[in-house]
Amino acid sequence: MTDPEIKKGLAGVVVDHTAVSKVNPETNSLLYRGYPVQELAATQSFEAVAYLLWHGELPTDEQLAELSAEERRHRALEPEIKAVIDLVPVDAHPMDEVRTAVSLIGARDLAGIDSVLDASGSPEENLARSIRLFAALPAIVAYGQRRRRGQEAVAPRDDLDYAANFLWMTFGEQAPPVVVDAFNRSMILYAEHSFNASTFTARVVTSTLSDLYSAVVAAIGALKGPLHGGANEAVLHIFDEIGSADNVVPWLDAALASKRKIMGFGHRVYKRGDSRVPTMKAALDTLVEHYDRPEVAALYDALESEFVSRKGIYPNLDYPSGPAYSLIGFDTLTFTPLFVAARVTGWTAHVMEQLAANALIRPLSAYNGPDERHVDGYVPDTAAIDVAARPEEAGA
Ligand code: COA
Repeated sequence: MTDPEIKKGLAGVVVDHTAVSKVNPETNSLLYRGYPVQELAATQSFEAVAYLLWHGELPTDEQLAELSAEERRHRALEPEIKAVIDLVPVDAHPMDEVRTAVSLIGARDLAGIDSVLDASGSPEENLARSIRLFAALPAIVAYGQRRRRGQEAVAPRDDLDYAANFLWMTFGEQAPPVVVDAFNRSMILYAEHSFNASTFTARVVTSTLSDLYSAVVAAIGALKGPLHGGANEAVLHIFDEIGSADNVVPWLDAALASKRKIMGFGHRVYKRGDSRVPTMKAALDTLVEHYDRPEVAALYDALESEFVSRKGIYPNLDYPSGPAYSLIGFDTLTFTPLFVAARVTGWTAHVMEQLAANALIRPLSAYNGPDERHVDGYVPDTAAIDVAARPEEAGA
């Protein structure tokens, strides 16, 4: 028998429809529910984009006010969640902290549902669960960074919107509008990206009719890897290694000679540039100017032009977002948790879409292990084999 064609990494395989977003590498565009992401980043709050991803339409003023009120209701770090974060070793990776906190939120919310048959929830329940996670994550991420710095948690402020409050809870001071705006844009750009590895993970878990929280916990695990969300953190490690623009050429010579992957470059789908990069690069430029840190832009530009001219591989969103988050004051370890706080909107939109037209996701594999063989000295129980061959007699 000839071997079936293997699509390693599912590259190029179309597994389902989605109405949540459209990635078009030919035109280098990304649409959320039909809207170009650049347009949303320039005009909308992250809350409005979350609403769009969940409901399919941008909110009216009244709908946005309702979502914002609900988000404010769940903003505070609950003492039980803080307690479980404190149990995570302070030198563990913060993605482990976030994953653990989300798991506890889920267990507390689903307490009393003792049958797996009831876990997947109605559309209304899943929307409420999505809003709860969206609202709770900033406090979890902010507290994670603060406790690593030996600081106490900061209570949320109801007079601030999502992005401004996130920065307030992280730094304990009110960020200037230019910083809030750049941060808001980054959250919108990170919110959704079709069937990427973490979203697909969430859909696989959902397809078994498990619950939304389990899907998000699994997605966080997938996002942690440096080939996916972990790349924004890895970009800063690279920047730290290189040091300054005049070291780019020797550093790149050595990195490419040792066949290193340069984090923040390349993409499974976009091969001619990531559609989100120009918007995030513009946000980074405003931050460079605001903080007066031209050397960051010089290093960014030098590595980009050198790598692109040598390899023809373009930056992805993690390349500008890493240095942007660093300028805002986030620790490098906090970058991927920020990605979680943004992408939870896309993940949960996909969970709801998967449930609305579910099919268990279960691909096939081509076996290439040893041919059938037998344990030394094993004597087959012929009676058992006979019964197995007549399942009706075995009670099957
Ligand atoms: N640095 C150096 N070489 C790279 C590269 C990078 N960032 N990205 C791709 N390449 C090279 C590969 O080594 C490979 O070369 P080869 O054909 O000589 O072996 C070729 O380009 C194809 O790369 P491949 O890894 O097969 O592409 P992919 O579609 O499977 O992978 C990524 C896409 C994102 C996993 C890959 O580009 C990567 O690892 N990038 C760095 C991590 C990152 O930034 N991830 C965030 C993604 S949003």
